[in-house]
Amino acid sequence: MSGHSILLVDDDPGLLKLLSLRLEANGFEVDTADSGLRALGRIGAARPDLLITDLRMQGMDGLALFEAARKLAPSLPVIMLTAHGTIPDAVQATRKGVFSYLTKPFDGKELLESITKALSQSRGHEGRERADGVDDWRHGIISNSAVMEALLDKTRRIARSDASVLIQSASGTGKELLARALHRASPRRDAAFVPINCAAIPENLLESELFGHRKGSFTGADRDRKGLFETASGGTLFLDEIGDMPLAFQAKLLRVLEDGEVRPVGATRGFPVDVRIVSATHADLEAAIEAGHFREDLFYRLNVVMLEIPSLSERREDIPLLARHFLERACERAGCHARVFAPEAMEALMLAPWKGNIRQLVNVVEQIAALSQTAIIPESLVRDALRDKSGGIVPLAEAHNDFERNYLIDLLRMTAGNVTQAARLAKRNRTEFYRLLDRHELEPGSFRP
Ligand SMILES: Nc1ncnc2c1ncn2[C@@H]1O[C@H](COP(=O)(O)OP(=O)(O)OP(=O)(O)O)[C@@H](O)[C@H]1O
Ligand SMILES: [Mg+2]
Repeated sequence: MSGHSILLVDDDPGLLKLLSLRLEANGFEVDTADSGLRALGRIGAARPDLLITDLRMQGMDGLALFEAARKLAPSLPVIMLTAHGTIPDAVQATRKGVFSYLTKPFDGKELLESITKALSQSRGHEGRERADGVDDWRHGIISNSAVMEALLDKTRRIARSDASVLIQSASGTGKELLARALHRASPRRDAAFVPINCAAIPENLLESELFGHRKGSFTGADRDRKGLFETASGGTLFLDEIGDMPLAFQAKLLRVLEDGEVRPVGATRGFPVDVRIVSATHADLEAAIEAGHFREDLFYRLNVVMLEIPSLSERREDIPLLARHFLERACERAGCHARVFAPEAMEALMLAPWKGNIRQLVNVVEQIAALSQTAIIPESLVRDALRDKSGGIVPLAEAHNDFERNYLIDLLRMTAGNVTQAARLAKRNRTEFYRLLDRHELEPGSFRP
């Protein structure tokens, strides 16, 4: 049984130390993590043979870690450590697929027996994944976080109705991907999904693009043309970047939505259309209404249900799964050998600010894949890719913020998470320093070795 690698997770450093010594003495290779999030990063980078985790932990608890880890490594066996008060939770966990649990305090013999059993039973289950096809609609959406699962759950529920949906969230969070999934989950799935980027179409062409035109209605209209509303008939029309739709056209769109009828340019009469409207914006439409750039009545038409995709920094537990997926995809495309992230490299990815969200993560990982020359991607390569803004200039406030965050991360690494020491180096008092860490959502504990 020895020679296997075990990832040990507990927020009690004393217990971590004790257990790892004991396991190493039995010939296991032991890696430790003091938080669920950090553990997830490790699993995303290396592939331990076994995960042993405390159930009750600050932040991501053992059960949440188990659920997230299961997506990264479906066949990874998990043993839970519990205190007396949490035995019912542990029993519940075994129903969900946790291999077994140990109640603290446990002796060395019990522990080794559980490990042996877990390791021997896990072999042969490699690559067992959900293959029932019920989740086809969300194909391509990778997630590992409770917030995303809740959003997807809401998406699936509202997909059944014809209610207009507004997806409002930051750039690169996956708005179009979600809109397509919503269509696939809806009864309209067999009809067309028609995307249109309202920001990309010149104002004078919007009407004919959306509603169509009759031959001869304007110079160049040498035959009848169907509009996108008609193309989407029976299906879903996706109005992307709706915040950029010119004010004058907003009135026309509103009329169509109210009447359920479109009238092509140059036609004398309209005809009814049956489309479901999903729109998306990265702008705050309520602020646009305040400023007089967006019609309030149209807003209420479009926003019967609002879906807000959390930014990537609000769901960092998704990063290992996403990063690994994009890396594998990039390597496959380039026909190069498989690559994996070193644990420190994955950690750097997990700590980055990700202002550009998943789109930025895709770009960073593709750049890394193109530049990597070794099977294991080192942290330095990730840092370089994260620093490289590819010529794009960011607002001063953002540059300042990024600098501050990176500075704090460097300090915490240098001092191994010792706040007193870090504050002293930065010439700030502890209270102030803690406030800074809070603002950047940095956890000193996760920098302790
Ligand atoms: N959960 C996810 N899993 C896998 N890939 C994702 C996920 N979310 C987004 N992506 C990928 O990230 C990129 C950006 O997604 P998408 O174009 O849907 O974002 P967006 O919110 O419309 O961005 P923008 O505001 O820049 O138009 C795409 O390549 C998409 O495939
Ligand atoms: Mg988009």
